[in-house]
Amino acid sequence: MRILSGATRPSDAQCLAFLVAKDSPVTPPLTAQTLVRDAAASARFAGEAGATLDLYVNEGEALLHLLLVGTGSKSTTDMEKAGAAISAKLLTSGVVHVAVDGEGHDAQALTHLALAAQLRAWRIDTYRTKLTEKQKPSLTTLTLVSGDAGLPAQLAEMDALAQGVMFTRELVAEPGNIIYPESFVERCKGLADLGIEVSVLDDNDMAALGMGALLGVAQGSHRPARLLALRWDGTAGGQLKPLCFVGKGVTFDSGGISLKPGPGMEDMKWDMGGAGAVVGVMKALALRKAPAHVVGICGLVENMPDGNAQRPGDIVKTMSGQTVEVLNTDAEGRLVLCDAIWWAQQTYQPETLIDLATLTGAMIISLGHEHGGLFSNDDELADRLLEAGKASGDKLWRFPISEAYDKLLDSPIADMKNIGPRYAGSITAAQFIKRYVKDGVKWAHLDIAGMVWADKPGLTWDKGATGFGVRVLDELVRRYYQG
Ligand code: BES
Ligand code: MN
Ligand code: ZN
Repeated sequence: MRILSGATRPSDAQCLAFLVAKDSPVTPPLTAQTLVRDAAASARFAGEAGATLDLYVNEGEALLHLLLVGTGSKSTTDMEKAGAAISAKLLTSGVVHVAVDGEGHDAQALTHLALAAQLRAWRIDTYRTKLTEKQKPSLTTLTLVSGDAGLPAQLAEMDALAQGVMFTRELVAEPGNIIYPESFVERCKGLADLGIEVSVLDDNDMAALGMGALLGVAQGSHRPARLLALRWDGTAGGQLKPLCFVGKGVTFDSGGISLKPGPGMEDMKWDMGGAGAVVGVMKALALRKAPAHVVGICGLVENMPDGNAQRPGDIVKTMSGQTVEVLNTDAEGRLVLCDAIWWAQQTYQPETLIDLATLTGAMIISLGHEHGGLFSNDDELADRLLEAGKASGDKLWRFPISEAYDKLLDSPIADMKNIGPRYAGSITAAQFIKRYVKDGVKWAHLDIAGMVWADKPGLTWDKGATGFGVRVLDELVRRYYQG
């Protein structure tokens, strides 16, 4: 969907969206104003955030489709609810072009509305060959009617972020037969056109580097593993050490020999949501030419149980030199991340490294689908992430880490086991990763297992891929890592 802005209502817009704050008078600048006000009262429309009311009124000779949209308290969240509601309502309504009356709203509020409208309009129709005309999206354009001179620049920044989130959703929504390590890399090659340096390690490169843990996961699949690195330097060499993001990219997680139960296994196509978020934020940063130096790294594997698959009890040697007793082949994300993170630190010497992963089912038990779990060895970094999470809508909640949890990973035969006991599963997973973070590196781990996919529509998404992670990381860079 295109987002435009202009001082007057475009004549080809079939629908006018009029914004109404909670419990405030309904006063669209139309001859039918009294009628509209009475209709709103009669339908008990009171401007609640995201509430809508469809009306058709005479405007001169023409019939005007008027959509009343509630903006609640006019907070950024409520503006997003309003924007999302416009798209949800109009996407397949037959309306092609909607004009939003922006009178009384500043550029920032309107930008949030537009972002949410654009994100809520995203869907993946690639595999639907039988959509009728009525089922196809009709809405292609939203024009914000506003004289605010600052609006176009803010909309351009917003569009960069939206493109990043939508790219993440695309990767996450694609099934495992389409997106696997090599094809994931192929989809990302185009990012080079935006000025991103794209580098790829194949399985031979990784074997030479000693990435025994990552390759151990991949060995049960016919799809070879890849490590993808995307570097954006918007500081022209001014910031030597990049901020590093590392994503878990298990393009399908069957569990391996520790096979998952059948029901719900299809969900594991989105076990690359961490890597998807990393790619999406890199795209957003490059599109908005962020003055920051950031590297996004994706550990890409498929976890399958063929005759060459690793066995429970196998011991693998990681690139760091530490050994791991693989007691459960379904705890594979940490095996992928430990080598990807070690490689990231060796290659880029970051001061700060943040990993994102759909790491544990236990995280969904703890936080459900409202917050991502945050683990960190640095209070300042944790606080920054919590703040950026609140501001962006990708909410996070911090969990503890400590020596006592770390001990639960000790193995009688190797340096560590890849699983702890049944309890505190998300924390022991974080402790495992921490064993691969070098001294002095500020590190945060985001367990986003409950956040990358939604079974029901939410604030700015329909059912399906949410793009979680892109907005919080973009906000973090914007606030704290731009030179
Ligand atoms: N990808 C899963 C975690 C997951 C489960 C994400 C459900 C989203 C929904 C991860 O690889 C996994 O299988 N974790 C195991 C760890 C266990 C074996 C210690 C889990 O959570 O059950
Ligand atoms: Mn698993
Ligand atoms: Zn997994």
